[in-house]
Amino acid sequence: PRLRVFAALLVPAMAAACSGEFSTLDPAGLEADRVAVLFWVMLAGAFAIWIFVIVLCRSVVVRAPRENSERQARRLILWGGAVFPGVVVTALVVFGVGMMPELRRPADGPTIAVSGERFWWRIAYDVEGGPGVVRNLPAGGVPSANEIWLPVGRRTEILLSSPDVIHSFWIPAIAGKMDAIPGRVTRLVVEPTRTGVFAGACAEYCGDTHAQMRLRAVVVPEEDYAAHVAAQAEPAAVTEGPGPELFLRSGCGACHTVRGTPADGLVGPDLTHVGGRSTLAAAILPMSVETLADFIRSPQHLKPGVEMPGFGMLPEREIEIIAEWLGSLE
Ligand code: CUA
Repeated sequence: PRLRVFAALLVPAMAAACSGEFSTLDPAGLEADRVAVLFWVMLAGAFAIWIFVIVLCRSVVVRAPRENSERQARRLILWGGAVFPGVVVTALVVFGVGMMPELRRPADGPTIAVSGERFWWRIAYDVEGGPGVVRNLPAGGVPSANEIWLPVGRRTEILLSSPDVIHSFWIPAIAGKMDAIPGRVTRLVVEPTRTGVFAGACAEYCGDTHAQMRLRAVVVPEEDYAAHVAAQAEPAAVTEGPGPELFLRSGCGACHTVRGTPADGLVGPDLTHVGGRSTLAAAILPMSVETLADFIRSPQHLKPGVEMPGFGMLPEREIEIIAEWLGSLE
């Protein structure tokens, strides 16, 4: 009975892992699809080995004390110890290696540079390659943060790096993880197979706020991707008035860029179109004027360990004006 209770508890727990936003078994990308297939094949292989070992154990225990045991033992070693594992492992290796050519096809889509930072993701769309100038990554590109748009059905090359510690870029539904390593550029080619919004996260412990270093992938048709990047390339919609004035006077421009204004800091996320993103603070909070104001007031409270200092010393009205302006930048 105890075993049955255990099994009854275990099965729903295991089944729960088959869906949900961080599941690897509900693929929306070529790489993730192959990972899921490989998982099930390996599971079947492990199950076959398990059955075989149980049968072997049973035969050894039940039939051991018999004549001709030496001949039997040799046969067991040959078939059980060499032939069976040899066949199973060879089949798994051939199957796994057979997947490689498809996964190694070169990119035919855009190149996007992504830098893992404490504790958010710097994004530059449509970079040209070339020598690394800005934080190890190719210079240029259209800057954004924390929400990566990808064209469906295209193989997009993602160039990864980091200015501080090792992070790992992971969107479970689309592809396996890839480390972002200081001082070098790693590559990941992804091929999303259906449109939608998919959750991602940093998958390498990088400090206090590692668990809140999330991201979002927005997979759209190719023309929507091009339109989005073109829109992101534009300067901010509103560059004059009390909002940008207070933003600059409060020193926000030392760390953040809002293109079209003198704010050109490179420490924190580019805020030129921050109001158009669906989330705030590396995809942990819903985007709204209220959460923007809360974050300006006390980022440590919402995201302990964040590098941005709080601006709660500003008059409440000024925080509201800055938040309203940022929220309007779509
Ligand atoms: Cu970045 Cu964990």
